Amino acid sequence: MDDGVTASGPGLSGARVLVAGASGVLGGLAAHELQARGSVVALAGRHPDRLADVAGGLGGAPVRGLDAYDLDDCAALAAWAVRELGGLDGVLVTVGVAGFGRVEEVPDEVVEHLFAVNVLCPAAVLRGAVARVVDGGFLAAVTGAIVDRPMLGTADYAAAKTALSCWLGVVAREGRARRLRVFDFRLPHLETGFSDRPVAGRPPALPRGGDPAAAVQALVDQLEGAAPAAR
Ligand SMILES: NC(=O)c1ccc[n+]([C@@H]2O[C@H](COP(=O)([O-])OP(=O)(O)OC[C@H]3O[C@@H](n4cnc5c(N)ncnc54)[C@H](OP(=O)(O)O)[C@@H]3O)[C@@H](O)[C@H]2O)c1
Repeated sequence: MDDGVTASGPGLSGARVLVAGASGVLGGLAAHELQARGSVVALAGRHPDRLADVAGGLGGAPVRGLDAYDLDDCAALAAWAVRELGGLDGVLVTVGVAGFGRVEEVPDEVVEHLFAVNVLCPAAVLRGAVARVVDGGFLAAVTGAIVDRPMLGTADYAAAKTALSCWLGVVAREGRARRLRVFDFRLPHLETGFSDRPVAGRPPALPRGGDPAAAVQALVDQLEGAAPAAR
């Protein structure tokens, strides 16, 4: 879903963008791509060394830690980004974790973890951004093709991503009066190693994934059509 997105738009030059999950593969690639297209970025992520590497590669973008279990802090990220960047034109959340197993095999604490990381954290980050992003700005998160095609052994991960997808759909409708652009990026399986670092279980047999860089370019193409006019 890319609710309300137009095919062409004003571009990302000068756009002030928060990337939450920038320590991950797709988040790091997106941060680079956004900057390459003229955006200024603020980065949040969990792993401090990986986050510092990404920020260093971008010439020293501002960074802040991100813990999916600290929802108050997740919701405070947008206000921090406003302070760092002088405003906020868009937010991209790439936080997520996989978990596998037949439903009767998955412990409740794993289910809680999957929902904390894949729904509650991204929703908190975006909830904190709704009132702070400029009119016409964007709110975006990565869910996955699994929303449309849940696989056996992924019930809780797929349900969490589907919950986030539903949530984003309502945000899109609530944001129409302010021309907020809401993106639910249902990416296919990509070769980032994501499925090889689940919180629990083993991934089902998967075909070789797609090219992460190409997927991120296409994702940022869509954001580019949604960035507000130059300030
Ligand atoms: N790769 C795929 O095939 C694929 C397909 C469809 C959708 N997706 C989605 O794309 C997003 C990015 O995936 P990716 O491939 O880039 O994988 P990744 O490199 O593992 O990125 C996942 C991100 O989530 C963060 N994260 C995980 N647990 C966290 C926690 N408890 N608190 C805070 N942050 C946490 C990671 O932080 P650290 O790295 O700092 O630990 C990392 O920034 C995920 O939402 C995933 O569900 C991926």
